[in-house]
Amino acid sequence: MRVIVTGGAGFIGSAVCRNFVLRQGWTVLNIDKLTYAASLGSLDALKTDSRYSFLRVDICDRAALEKALAGFAPEAVLHLAAETHVDRSIDGSAPFIQTNVVGTHTLLEACRAHWARLPNDRRSGFRFLHVSTDEVFGSLGPTGQFCETSPYDPRSPYAASKAASDHLARAWHETYGLPVILSNCSNNYGPFQFPEKLIPLTILNALEGKPLPVYGDGQNIRDWLYVDDHVQALALVLANGRPGQKYNVGGRNEHSNLQVVEAICDILDELVPSAQKRRRLITFVPDRPGHDRRYAIDPDKVERELGWSAAESFHSGLEKTVRWYMANRAWWEPLRTGVYAGHRLGLIEAGRQGQSA
Ligand SMILES: NC(=O)c1ccc[n+]([C@@H]2O[C@H](COP(=O)([O-])OP(=O)(O)OC[C@H]3O[C@@H](n4cnc5c(N)ncnc54)[C@H](O)[C@@H]3O)[C@@H](O)[C@H]2O)c1
Repeated sequence: MRVIVTGGAGFIGSAVCRNFVLRQGWTVLNIDKLTYAASLGSLDALKTDSRYSFLRVDICDRAALEKALAGFAPEAVLHLAAETHVDRSIDGSAPFIQTNVVGTHTLLEACRAHWARLPNDRRSGFRFLHVSTDEVFGSLGPTGQFCETSPYDPRSPYAASKAASDHLARAWHETYGLPVILSNCSNNYGPFQFPEKLIPLTILNALEGKPLPVYGDGQNIRDWLYVDDHVQALALVLANGRPGQKYNVGGRNEHSNLQVVEAICDILDELVPSAQKRRRLITFVPDRPGHDRRYAIDPDKVERELGWSAAESFHSGLEKTVRWYMANRAWWEPLRTGVYAGHRLGLIEAGRQGQSA
């Protein structure tokens, strides 16, 4: 299969590129703007592989997208490119609207024009897989799970921009017949995740003996999925998913943020014992504005229809991840010293209300 992956220099995108080329044997063109969240170092394993190529392109650039589509002639487009950090979306929503909404619209239109020109046999096989998040469904109470028909109720600028992009993708299927499939996945973790997100930030701060910030009371619950399990689901959805359908992907691994941080402390205490237990570094900090309380995904449809299941348990995946960050300082140290040092993002200060960066 020939696949264009957007956002392939990010966390999930780079795992997708590595898996599609090295495991599935597919040919991949990675289209990425290379924002602060991108790292071409995550793709070193593909540097010399003739089945992989890269183009620095903004998904808001219609002409560049059309050129890439015509030149590469993909059988599928896997759309991951996005602004993704909730805290950054609180500090400044404009890039989220631009990339997640305008960019997705531009990509859908470029793909529609490309698809319309394909000969009949290639038109019917073409796929556009739009990758989204469980955050579009809002916040759950203590019970229940999100399924494919759950109503949308986004509550952060990030979630709202992703919800908008989901609606666009869905509409391009209903209105124009573009063979779109949607997937909504729970929180991912694993190697090569930018160290602003909870799990890598906690691992790196704990390794460096720094405070481990936990928002609010630490009882916000997320459904964690090891990134390679998500990638395996995306490969199955691309190959066998039905156009016009949605698939929810999740690991049946609900843990509170405090439990996640404590588990990382305990794994590190075992792997690299220190004089004092690392749990002493846990520091409760002011909560994120509008912090959703609980997410949980019902992955029954993707399990039943496509035979997918998560291979990693939370503990095995977390230990792999901790070991990976310990062994790959060369990947993350330049990010910690150059791009993001671990400072707090996403707090609304009184004087800054109403500003939009
Ligand atoms: N990380 C998660 O837990 C999670 C869970 C479910 C769904 N998702 C979705 O998966 C996708 C990837 O998430 P991630 O965590 O890998 O994100 P990430 O922030 O690590 O990577 C995003 C990538 O998109 C690129 N990008 C941003 N704006 C672009 C633009 N205008 N044009 C081209 N490229 C651009 C960035 O350079 C970066 O390489 C997103 O759509 C996200 O909403 C993520």
